[in-house]
Amino acid sequence: MTSIKLQPLDHTLLPAALQLDHLCFGGLWTLDGYQRELESPNSDLLAIVPAPSTPDEEAVVITDITEERSEFLVNPKVNPKANLSTSRPRATSATPSAASDPLLGLGCYWAILDEAHITILGIHPDYQRRGLGHLMLCALLDRARQRDMARATLEVRISNQSALLLYQKFGFQIAGQRKGYYTDTGEDALILWRGKLQSTEFGTLLTTQWTEIHHRLTHHHWSLQLGLELLIAENSTLTYP
Ligand SMILES: CC(C)(COP(=O)(O)OP(=O)(O)OC[C@H]1O[C@@H](n2cnc3c(N)ncnc32)[C@H](O)[C@@H]1OP(=O)(O)O)[C@@H](O)C(=O)NCCC(=O)NCCS
Repeated sequence: MTSIKLQPLDHTLLPAALQLDHLCFGGLWTLDGYQRELESPNSDLLAIVPAPSTPDEEAVVITDITEERSEFLVNPKVNPKANLSTSRPRATSATPSAASDPLLGLGCYWAILDEAHITILGIHPDYQRRGLGHLMLCALLDRARQRDMARATLEVRISNQSALLLYQKFGFQIAGQRKGYYTDTGEDALILWRGKLQSTEFGTLLTTQWTEIHHRLTHHHWSLQLGLELLIAENSTLTYP
């Protein structure tokens, strides 16, 4: 089990943020840009980082027990007898460490009046497809709800199917298209909107997504620590190290 932490980005992570920005977006923001975001009261800039293991997790490694049983020890809500007959894939790529990969994911939105403008969502290419993007988007939307935002919006490349599918999970809909918006390729941007962030229905959707994310992370041997407040975590029955 590998521990990861969701937290606000801080100054110590700025060099890593620039590197990840290059990897994910080809250099969208400069160091000054990231510094300005950190200082802006209207910006919420979140990071996913590798975290030190908890004593419980170390105990799991030492005892060398089955995968299902170890998950049960880390999270007693996982039934140790479940899925015993199915062999689930183990994590295949490198385990992140603060030294090699100090930053696994970045996400940011700007609070403009009652609108959350999602400006950045990027997961390190070596750690994609394990639920981290899903986690980051869910956290951004939860934080936007906490700030009484009514709507969320963003622009996405028309060819970016992965991102479009991810946004669809949270009910984003296409509201328009900006011709030639991206200067590097001349590609169009789709404008996505998600309304009713304060509705009960959206709260329920976030809860459902949060549970799915938690299961997905466990499946990929991630154990999540929280270094920020999320309504969804407070209202959830899931446990955190
Ligand atoms: C888009 C991005 C953030 C997704 O992060 P991720 O951690 O790989 O995504 P997750 O593993 O959490 O997947 C969540 C959902 O996104 C969609 N998705 C993500 N990657 C996908 C892919 N390669 N193909 C198809 N769907 C994909 C799926 O709906 C997936 O859910 P599923 O696994 O149940 O099918 C990541 O690919 C990335 O950083 N891309 C580069 C930067 C970027 O394009 N950012 C978005 C700008 S608007």
